[in-house]
Amino acid sequence: MFRALLLLALTLTCVIVAGHNEQALGSTDGVTSIFQPQSQPAQEIKETSLLVLAVCGTIFFVVAGLLVYAIVRFRHRAGDELSEPPQVYGSNQIELAWTILPLLIVFVLILVTARTIADIQNRKPPSGAVKATVIGHQWWWEIRYPELGIVTANELHVPASDGSGSRPTFLKLQSADVAHSFWVPVLAGKTDLIPNRENLMWIEPTKPGTYLGNCAEYCGTQHARMLIRVVVHSPDEFERWTNEQQQAASAETNAAEGRKVFFANSCVNCHTIKGTSSQGKFGPDLTHLMSRETLAAGAAPNTPDNLRQWVRDPQKIKVGCLMPNMQLTDEEVDQVVSYLQTLK
Ligand code: CUA
Repeated sequence: MFRALLLLALTLTCVIVAGHNEQALGSTDGVTSIFQPQSQPAQEIKETSLLVLAVCGTIFFVVAGLLVYAIVRFRHRAGDELSEPPQVYGSNQIELAWTILPLLIVFVLILVTARTIADIQNRKPPSGAVKATVIGHQWWWEIRYPELGIVTANELHVPASDGSGSRPTFLKLQSADVAHSFWVPVLAGKTDLIPNRENLMWIEPTKPGTYLGNCAEYCGTQHARMLIRVVVHSPDEFERWTNEQQQAASAETNAAEGRKVFFANSCVNCHTIKGTSSQGKFGPDLTHLMSRETLAAGAAPNTPDNLRQWVRDPQKIKVGCLMPNMQLTDEEVDQVVSYLQTLK
């Protein structure tokens, strides 16, 4: 019994500590523990879960304590065989108590949970709220800001709600193929992205920084490399980011060769580069590719070397991903990479 309890305690500790130490690519000042919320509604969810945890923990220790007490106090002793223990049969008080008490506890938990859910779901976007559409793909995130005219991938940029006012971000969640789930533990609970359906959620972080999340619904081979980064900016920084992203692709001409290779291949069938004839919709928008921290939804940091490897053979970095090996020569790979590097 003692060993089992110890094992349980150790396992729980491991689970909680592991949540704090999750490693991630690139720079981040966010941890992914649900116990360190950095935003509503994660804060409210944490308070509710702590209450539930406290109630369940108390019940666990009372029951386990009584069990240990009974095991020790009434253990087998020499001479026990000679007499029979007192025979107890039925007790209305005890049976009423252990029926009514749990009913009351469950009722309280239902009320508290329902209040939290209602609070979160009934929030209406205030004027000035940022609106974004997040579309799950195998295996990356398309992120659109219809009102701002911005399309990007895998990095959701939002303003912080600081002293100057509340500016939450409201998300419409959709899927282009199978079910995915959007989960950034320090910002909000998880919400599924389901084909032919639109789900809603909102976040309201107050502290600038990068917060990490994962797809939380198994969606195929590369489900594990479908990472989300939420970059929270101060309001001024967010304006700057918005202005940059609204620009068409840079028209730098120093990578003309690579540009030619890119447009001569089927890259254009899948990727959009704003302001060019490349208007494909299957893959991530590349207009400002170099402004993103990672490639392939967090599979690798966005460095020139990784970009080269990715263009040469995406399957090496992300087995099974839907971008094929384009069979480019080494020279063509270098040229395409120089072109992509102009997309700042
Ligand atoms: Cu998308 Cu798992």
